[in-house]
Amino acid sequence: MEFPPFEHLLYYERVHGARLNISFSNIREFRLDGFGRSLPKDLDLNWTFRNGTPELRRLIARRHRASPNRVLVTTGATEGNFLVNASLVHPRDRVLVDIPIYSPLRDVPRGVGAKVVEIPRECKDGWRLDLDRWRKLAGRRACLLVFANLNNPTSTALSRSDLRALADIAEECDGHVLVDETFRELAFENRPPSAAEFGPRMIALSTVTKVCGLGTLRVGWIVGAPDLLERFAGLKDYTTGGGSIVSQTIASWALGRWDFFLRRAKRILDANRKIATDALRDLPALQGDVPVGGSVLFPHSTVHVGKLASRLLKQYGTVIAEGRFFGVPDHFRLGLGGEPRDLRMGLANLRRLLRAVS
Ligand SMILES: Cc1ncc(COP(=O)(O)O)c(C=O)c1O
Repeated sequence: MEFPPFEHLLYYERVHGARLNISFSNIREFRLDGFGRSLPKDLDLNWTFRNGTPELRRLIARRHRASPNRVLVTTGATEGNFLVNASLVHPRDRVLVDIPIYSPLRDVPRGVGAKVVEIPRECKDGWRLDLDRWRKLAGRRACLLVFANLNNPTSTALSRSDLRALADIAEECDGHVLVDETFRELAFENRPPSAAEFGPRMIALSTVTKVCGLGTLRVGWIVGAPDLLERFAGLKDYTTGGGSIVSQTIASWALGRWDFFLRRAKRILDANRKIATDALRDLPALQGDVPVGGSVLFPHSTVHVGKLASRLLKQYGTVIAEGRFFGVPDHFRLGLGGEPRDLRMGLANLRRLLRAVS
């Protein structure tokens, strides 16, 4: 196995001390005291369930209209992505990946030796999904088709009919479809259905990281057919075994108050969406609308993105996420889940710099 470096993560490590990061995809951090609860004093810290606690699996299952026996709790969606690929994909297997995309969804299949075929969408077509192209490239032997719904970084959605068509393609090529649904519920009233509703070839991933701002709990999950989950769990026995009971307990509190977290996210995103919309109107060097859902946007820049990002960091201590991390170098990602004051300040810095260079 040879895994490409996770460039985006390494970049964040490097710029960690920067004053302003306006590129994160998560909703602002949530703190322990926000729950107003304490961990049970008699919590057994020695042992927990292999597939996740029954309470947590029940709460997760509800988010996907699935039964709890179709849920495997993982150490973040990150581990979920790894388990799916390492279980289903063999060296030289064909894996089709939607581009742009959060890079681990493209690079973990590469790491396990797959022949990865990138299927780019075009900004000028409104990031339209070309299902005919997917059908043709899947042929009779693609092993895995990979998406994020909502997409990270464009926030575009796969619709119910897209998901149905993808399930049919998977049937034709005798493969599976992996849909990372980390951002799905951030479409709120327009949220697409979970891939888990579309049959045994569909695998959904998600996490408490982004919707709740609870990234360090490291609680994510896979929803899929029970026989697949058994294979993923068999591999998880070697990666984490049972997850942290402390984290799973807190994640259960979060899932038990999911509507609260969605309302919180919507409040933050609505405020920032307005700030970003107003700012983009005033930035002719950037093209692309602020999407109606999701926590990220991905404008095209007429100014070289690498140079823009490095000057923005050097002169203004402000971080954006270069499009090269997602496979489209002339765009960059902005995040809408942080403090409105920070986004306003970061966008003002961006405006100053763009006026100076364009
Ligand atoms: C699409 C997507 N999936 C998964 C993750 C990571 O999830 P977790 O923190 O649960 O590992 C991210 C983080 O940026 C993401 O954007």
